[in-house]
Amino acid sequence: MLTLDNHDEYAKLDAGRMLHFLRELPEVAEAAFDRGQAARLPIAQPRCVLICGMGGSAISGDLIRTQLVGACDVPVVVHRGDQLPRFAGPDTLAIFMSYSGNTGETLGCLRQAIARGVPSVVVTHGGEAGKLAEQHGLPTVSMPAGWMPRAALGDLFFALLGVVSQLATCESPDVVGAVANLRALRDRIDETVVTKENPAKRLALALHGKTPVVVGATPTTEAVAVRWKCQLNENSKQTALVAILPEATHNDIVNLTASSHSGHHLIVVTDPEDSEFVRRQRAITLDLMRPFVGGVHEIEGQGDSLLARQLTAIYMGDYVSVYLGFLKGVDPTPVDTIFALKDRMKVAMEGVR
Ligand code: F6R
Repeated sequence: MLTLDNHDEYAKLDAGRMLHFLRELPEVAEAAFDRGQAARLPIAQPRCVLICGMGGSAISGDLIRTQLVGACDVPVVVHRGDQLPRFAGPDTLAIFMSYSGNTGETLGCLRQAIARGVPSVVVTHGGEAGKLAEQHGLPTVSMPAGWMPRAALGDLFFALLGVVSQLATCESPDVVGAVANLRALRDRIDETVVTKENPAKRLALALHGKTPVVVGATPTTEAVAVRWKCQLNENSKQTALVAILPEATHNDIVNLTASSHSGHHLIVVTDPEDSEFVRRQRAITLDLMRPFVGGVHEIEGQGDSLLARQLTAIYMGDYVSVYLGFLKGVDPTPVDTIFALKDRMKVAMEGVR
């Protein structure tokens, strides 16, 4: 088996340079935030913020939504689907997130928003969404070329944060502090740090051959848990499950305690802002589950703000997913089935609107 301390072996597997893109995450944040803040808001005081996107582009919406639960006066809704929700109207701020600009679901919603006159902003590298935005004069935040959408989280998320932070009802985020925390974490977990001192490499080794179940909590760490699951799916080519408290105590808890799940490892993401209810419920839940699962690993982000902690907890998961990919002998970058499906859907939907 490959050792995580042999850089030459990584280089062979990492043809798509995922480690390079991962390293860049904190470096692109501030400029992306400024670009988002410079985008013209098509409506100053929306009654609702609707964020449409899929996969690696949608997760930024989840992060924003969970941060704003306690900090913004209007509801923030994240929508993953091809039909624009009926409530979206002239008093909605709709933000379309698609790195490629060619994702069918997001384009479906964007076309409907244009037809219905919904105030819209587009965050994209280009593609069809870029063209539509240009034709209809929609404010656009441009993404740089050459990234995989999920690796472009630094650009996508901070651009979205910049757009949303213009709303008078939202608090201004500590971007500089979050970036400092991300850099400090990177110094502890990047590929130059040997396994015995590197918590991300150690966790990847513990998860090798197991099925990770990522446990988050609403609202603090649910987006983090979803991002971990998606990164394990795409970078490690690994089946992974996600269970969100308190909801998981009404369903997941049943199957996970019905029989031995020694091949399942829980990754429990905690946050100092978790409510007392969630803390106590999590302790009891883990008590019940521990005898049935193969291992329990607790993760907490670093920093003074929820923003910093969510992003550092995500950054840890991103590194773990890449290291786990290497341990499995896979290149973390390609997601061939996603592209194959998108190509087939393009043909299948020809002539259908
Ligand atoms: C690829 C990835 C995918 C895409 C998704 C939507 O790296 O993570 O989940 O993000 O297929 O594509 P975009 O982001 O181009 O709209």
